[in-house]
Amino acid sequence: MSGEDYAAVKLVNVWKEYRRGEPVLRGVDLEVKVGSFISIRGKSGAGKSTLLRIIGLLDQPTSGRVILLGRDGSELDDEEASRLRLKRIGFVFQFFNLMPSLTVLENIELPMAMAGADKAFREKRAMELLDRFGMRRLADKLPSQLSGGEQQRVAVLRALANEPDILLADEPTASLDEENAELLLDLFTEINEEYLVTIILTTVSMEEKLPTHRDYILRNGRLYQA
Ligand SMILES: Nc1ncnc2c1ncn2[C@@H]1O[C@H](COP(=O)(O)OP(=O)(O)O)[C@@H](O)[C@H]1O
Ligand SMILES: [Mg+2]
Repeated sequence: MSGEDYAAVKLVNVWKEYRRGEPVLRGVDLEVKVGSFISIRGKSGAGKSTLLRIIGLLDQPTSGRVILLGRDGSELDDEEASRLRLKRIGFVFQFFNLMPSLTVLENIELPMAMAGADKAFREKRAMELLDRFGMRRLADKLPSQLSGGEQQRVAVLRALANEPDILLADEPTASLDEENAELLLDLFTEINEEYLVTIILTTVSMEEKLPTHRDYILRNGRLYQA
């Protein structure tokens, strides 16, 4: 279903300046269609994480508009913003961020628990996700018993737990070897095609081959189509 008449993400003239210093973002415009898979490439310090945090309503721009799934970020109060973030946006970071004391299954259940889903529902959905992506055998393991590649794929499933519309992945391949980076990108492609989740991924690499529909470069605080 991509018949919505709004974009998944729309940024209009977004600026960001931290307390002291030069602006990090200097007028970013971006429109990401529902169901598309895009990348943002940029050097370390270019502002990729800043931009993703702003898109994900974890931070606010100094000026400019952020419109997510047709809703203007500046018109949401804190509670509405957290709700939107929890239910409709999934995050994946460079360092997998799994809870070390929880099993894989429990890690995937966590966002559902935060959204108030009951245990039986959480277990069923987490198991379905693991099954669907061929990771069932990992269910009862602890993160420390997994390879980095496996941990990152589990982190992606956890981000899918609440059936988000948008997946934001900040340098998700940066800590992986080439083979695991490819497996992860394959997983993103499947998720994008099967669930029509809109995906925005960042990378520092200018060369890395990506299965994206469109690529942008963030440089000097502005976004250019690659
Ligand atoms: N919370 C913050 N406070 C002050 N400066 C920050 C903060 N977060 C990031 N910066 C600065 O903003 C710039 C962009 O950082 P970041 O968005 O993390 O870039 P990237 O993710 O592309 O490496 C850097 O110069 C960084 O030092
Ligand atoms: Mg970053």
